[in-house]
Amino acid sequence: MIIYDREIPDRDGYAIERLFDSTFGPGHFAKTAERVREYSYSMPEITRVGLLNGKLIAVCRVWPIFIGGVPTLFYGPIAVAPDYQGGKVGRSVTEASLEAGAASGHKFACLIGAPAYFGRMGFEVQPFGSIEFPGPQDPSRVMLRRLNASSDEPYPTGKVTFPRDARRAEATQKAYLQRAMWEE
Ligand SMILES: CC(C)(COP(=O)(O)OP(=O)(O)OC[C@H]1O[C@@H](n2cnc3c(N)ncnc32)[C@H](O)[C@@H]1OP(=O)(O)O)[C@@H](O)C(=O)NCCC(=O)NCCS
Repeated sequence: MIIYDREIPDRDGYAIERLFDSTFGPGHFAKTAERVREYSYSMPEITRVGLLNGKLIAVCRVWPIFIGGVPTLFYGPIAVAPDYQGGKVGRSVTEASLEAGAASGHKFACLIGAPAYFGRMGFEVQPFGSIEFPGPQDPSRVMLRRLNASSDEPYPTGKVTFPRDARRAEATQKAYLQRAMWEE
């Protein structure tokens, strides 16, 4: 049975980086979602991992951002180990972290992904140009979903900015680099 648990960085950090390497390949560092990762810090308490007999097979990472000043949770990367894809694990790990995001009191969740997939989980593509990320992104893949907002509350628009906790962002970044280097 797969258990969906919060991320425990010392237990899961290394396995998560390896999972990203095997699902996205080495090019994943060029993605705009990675710029979020540089400027922000992940939230292990809202991130969810899928564990099968203790082995990490899935992750949905979550990061705090602001859109036009509105606190929003950024979801991704979401990844499932190749051997387990197609069995609803991706959906389950994302929904588990959406539940955790809603429980945290945040109103909105954002991601950059495939509308055909994430539309099934309540995400909606945003009007072209309504959200400005700090890097190029395909506007047809920028999506938002309500967590705690009522259905008539408009989605936030504007520039994506990051929490001003630079020290925490730096510490997160350092930890990622260290884990990446252990492999060499
Ligand atoms: C995308 C991913 C997380 C989906 O997880 P999963 O456990 O394989 O997916 P699920 O079992 O929950 O859902 C499978 C369904 O989603 C569809 N699907 C999967 N990836 C899709 C995509 N990129 N675009 C559209 N549909 C997709 C499948 O065709 C399948 O459809 P069906 O139910 O009609 O048969 C996983 O395939 C993965 O890790 N891919 C590589 C990394 C990636 O691209 N992550 C997403 C961007 S952050």
